[in-house]
Amino acid sequence: METQLFNQESIREAGNLLKNGELVAFPTETVYGLGAIASNEEAVENVYTVKGRPSDNPLIVHVASTEIDEWVADVPKVARKLMDKFWPGPLTLIFNTKAGVFPSAVTGGQETVAMRMPDQTLALQLIKEAGFPIVGPSANTSGKPSPTTAQHVSHDLNDKIAGIVDGGETKIGVESTVLDLTDSRGLIILRPGAVTREALQIVTDQKVWMSEEVASADATDAPKAPGMKYMHYSPTQPVILMRDNWGEKIAELLAAGNTIGVLASDEQITELTDFSELAVYSLGSRTDENAASQRLYAGLRYFDMTNVTVILAEGYPKDGIGVAFMNRLEKAASSMYPE
Ligand code: TXA
Ligand code: MG
Repeated sequence: METQLFNQESIREAGNLLKNGELVAFPTETVYGLGAIASNEEAVENVYTVKGRPSDNPLIVHVASTEIDEWVADVPKVARKLMDKFWPGPLTLIFNTKAGVFPSAVTGGQETVAMRMPDQTLALQLIKEAGFPIVGPSANTSGKPSPTTAQHVSHDLNDKIAGIVDGGETKIGVESTVLDLTDSRGLIILRPGAVTREALQIVTDQKVWMSEEVASADATDAPKAPGMKYMHYSPTQPVILMRDNWGEKIAELLAAGNTIGVLASDEQITELTDFSELAVYSLGSRTDENAASQRLYAGLRYFDMTNVTVILAEGYPKDGIGVAFMNRLEKAASSMYPE
């Protein structure tokens, strides 16, 4: 199958492909998604096949409006507040399913369904053209970093899907915050993203938990976001999460015959100019965690295509979007230095 490229002008054609049960990747404000019409079981099953995704890892349903009563069992008051404040935007909400609305392939057989309204004009237009909500897992091969450009999607899925809507680089660069609204213990963040815990607490006026805080209380529970147990986000080379002593580690790795890739802030890169043999990819200024998040996956993918044998990546403070950045980087990293 030849993968067609679409843009603003040809968005209707892309929507027609979805209507016909084809797969079309699309930009969102976070990362590119792999779209399929959520009413078509076969199309949804194809999404799992094309990505190489385990079938028990459910998909996010993307909508173009905050009027979602039709798609979920009930819309609690707190959901209404959150949608009013954060939709369209990088916040995925987990609701109880309404029987017969989506095929079970969408929810991986769970009793809950993830919903999100992306803040991206092309994505919203595509959903409207499709005439029904669309599923949208990140448009990468399972285990690879999520795609933040149409070229990344093409690299992983070219000739396996009908189309890609090209919207340029995505704005945020890490996947949406996933918030579970269905747990009797309270509001639980299953995956950190650009909408922070603090922001959620202010808007809901209640305590919001991180999944690892409640998971330790009853460790026998199955993981609530099945995806979290699979995520790797890793390039083929080992990634070392650097906390300090760059010079020491670089000297050691060079002596052992490595070719080194450095994924770090401009300030850190400047400190390393004595080592002329490094390959570098800038995450922007050290004070700009948004820039670092936006560039993280592109940087990992960049080094994946070079001959570097090891990647040294800079750690950032865990506040604001830094929580999401470090969550992804820690998953990609095989070790820390110093340990
Ligand atoms: O930013 C995003 O959310 C991107 C863009 C394309 O919208 N999408 C995305 O989808 O990251 P995906 O499939 O790569 O990640 C969805 C995550 C997985 O960790 C999955 O396990 C979790 O959401 N999830 C989906 N449905 C769920 C449910 N019913 N209960 C708990 N977790 C769920
Ligand atoms: Mg993903």
